[in-house]
Amino acid sequence: MNLFRRSTLSERTLLPFDMFDAEYPEAEARRARRMESIYHVGQARIWDGREVLKDLIAKHGKPELAPTPRRSLARVFGMIMWGELAAWKISAQLSDRLVPLEAKLAAASQVHDEARHFYVMHDYLAALGERPAKLEFWARRVLTRTLETNDLLKKLVGMQLTVETIALVAFQRVRELEVEPVLSELMPFYERDEARHIGLGVQLVPKLISELSAAGAVDLALFQLDLLTATLFSLKSIERDLLNIGVDPRSLLGIAFRRQADIDEKIRAEFPQWPADPPLRRVFEGICEVLFPTEGLDAHVPTATRIRHALEVVARARPSVFEQWGSKTDKSRTAPLA
Ligand SMILES: [Fe+2]
Ligand SMILES: [Fe+2]
Repeated sequence: MNLFRRSTLSERTLLPFDMFDAEYPEAEARRARRMESIYHVGQARIWDGREVLKDLIAKHGKPELAPTPRRSLARVFGMIMWGELAAWKISAQLSDRLVPLEAKLAAASQVHDEARHFYVMHDYLAALGERPAKLEFWARRVLTRTLETNDLLKKLVGMQLTVETIALVAFQRVRELEVEPVLSELMPFYERDEARHIGLGVQLVPKLISELSAAGAVDLALFQLDLLTATLFSLKSIERDLLNIGVDPRSLLGIAFRRQADIDEKIRAEFPQWPADPPLRRVFEGICEVLFPTEGLDAHVPTATRIRHALEVVARARPSVFEQWGSKTDKSRTAPLA
């Protein structure tokens, strides 16, 4: 039985009557049970977005900030709001095209979660008195490339393992820094849901990667590098806004690397051949040093110095953003991965 249904129109209309034919080996049966529980836990922990937002506004009053941080907060969370819409669409694609019942259930519950994330973020920004602007070029690239690809492995890598991780880290920082009380108390609701969504990727992606040809693996790595680089440029484009609301973009990067390492660890428990310290990560940490130097946004570090520092990061002669920030977060306070 195929894991994915191809997206041709004629096939789309078919029902996968063979969906119960597959006999799972033990490890796969265990993964299937985990995916099934993503759906059931999602249902057990569901929250009413209208009620939660109404109660938080009743508790803290209407969200209020000085004009500069307010506009910056709206730019950052406007981006998140469009990201939620993309996540809604992408999880709907997954829920249509994934064949095994358990994976399909997990994606279906994600559709419902992302719809709620989208409208609650819209309503929050409206309460703040801001209207979300269009997405800038690089964020749009990350989302549209993931939306448009017909390759479901790329879709899963882009959505569950890249976009979800970034969102989770941004939510965590905004909560920890208590940027605005209503938003900060809203964040744990989002974090719990997003951690479950990453779980679907953790269960599905490694097996699919292990079945790739060498050419397929290179193609996937290029896709991932494209997404990660676009994510970095996108972060660069909102660097000033992040600083205006007290969020250091380097902290986001460092914690995102930490999260990625946690995901790798989970995947390695199932697939011991998964690389422990992929060389690509070190190179990527070097690129981070060029774009987001340790000295900070206003330090005006000359390009030659940035490049020298980046090479030192790659050679492990200088602490990377991951080493500086990745261990600073209190793990017990972050939403556990499903
Ligand atoms: Fe979401
Ligand atoms: Fe999500």
